[in-house]
Amino acid sequence: MKEYIFPKDFMWGASTAAHQVEGNNINSESWVLEHLPGTIYAEPSGDAIDHYHRYPSDIALLAELGFNSYRFSIEWARIEPEDGEFSYAELEHYRRMLAACHEHGIKPVVTFHHFTTPRWLMRQGGWLDEKTPERFARYVERAAKHLGDLISVACTVNEPNLPVLLSKILPFKIEETPFWNTAAQAFGVLPDQLGLFQFVARPRMREIILAAHRRAFDALHSGPGSFPVGLTLALVDIQAAEGGESKAAEFRRELADDYLEQLRGDDFVGVQTYSRMLVGPHGMIRPGDDVEKNQMGEEYYPEAIGGTIRHASSVAGIPVIVTENGFSSTDDFRRLEYFQYALRSVANCLEDGIDVRGYLCWSAFDNFEWISGYRPLFGIIAVDRETQQRSPKPSAYWLGNVARANRTQFK
Ligand code: BGC
Repeated sequence: MKEYIFPKDFMWGASTAAHQVEGNNINSESWVLEHLPGTIYAEPSGDAIDHYHRYPSDIALLAELGFNSYRFSIEWARIEPEDGEFSYAELEHYRRMLAACHEHGIKPVVTFHHFTTPRWLMRQGGWLDEKTPERFARYVERAAKHLGDLISVACTVNEPNLPVLLSKILPFKIEETPFWNTAAQAFGVLPDQLGLFQFVARPRMREIILAAHRRAFDALHSGPGSFPVGLTLALVDIQAAEGGESKAAEFRRELADDYLEQLRGDDFVGVQTYSRMLVGPHGMIRPGDDVEKNQMGEEYYPEAIGGTIRHASSVAGIPVIVTENGFSSTDDFRRLEYFQYALRSVANCLEDGIDVRGYLCWSAFDNFEWISGYRPLFGIIAVDRETQQRSPKPSAYWLGNVARANRTQFK
């Protein structure tokens, strides 16, 4: 057994995103998509886990478990429900949430955009419209003016590279489904103008989102408060199988480096990793039937986080915060083991001198997993969706104890 002590001030926490936990996010485009005829969403988000009302006890619970940080997102569709109309009441809601974090000794890590976009913006082309960086910066500036003094870390946008990753993983192209046309019609745009953040893998969208990030970065640095600003990326540990070296290099460029290279000079990059991807000469090699997988069909491979931290840090050359890492399963002991191995990989990175500032798992709670609905269980805290009762799982106690001690032991 080897004991590892993490650096002083290491951030320990869990993450959520507004749409996945708050409930009734009716002014967002996702709410519209979930209710379309022929929707690809397994079920609507509904009340979610009612975090919108239950955040005081949820934050208290995270603190009680031993965490010192909590990553959540504020919802653009609530703060600016119509173009240029800002809700003071919603800004006050998030201010109370931030205050609750500080009361419990929790550092709030605030994401300004976690996939969901106000429905009014979709009618204007969403993330394919060249005015969107300006609109995003206006929202960020307004929100930061109200909340900035209470923010500890800010993430501008979450996983702008996800659509590229999905385009490699999904067995079909979302843009070619009948659902895509129905969605375009719902927002009154042509199918190729449907700028859905989560699903469009086009260079134009990458440029627009990165421009939005740049403007938000500047706005956050010139507003009240003083905190690190970065964005988060969906990173898989890309490994070449026999003969797959050049294809793997191509994937690394498209999925990671085209983004990471743009982040040089940022305060940090948020690394979000669940598994590895084996790449052969013809592309991704799916894990076989004999391989243990999570509920999303990805391989159980906790060491992936070490690979992605190393890659992100070497390409972007900036500090790393692990802003998501976890294992969706009904078997919480397997999740606990996943965390043990993942933390060993994080510790190895730190021992090699890589600047890792924190580890925030995905997710604090079982919640709404986008198109997959409520079936995949990522949470360290279970939620009974009838009674909304929270029950921490063994993995929550284990990770919370590691957080409190700021150390752990490895085999
Ligand atoms: C996202 C989360 C999502 C998680 C698990 C990440 O891509 O940021 O919103 O729930 O992965 O799939």
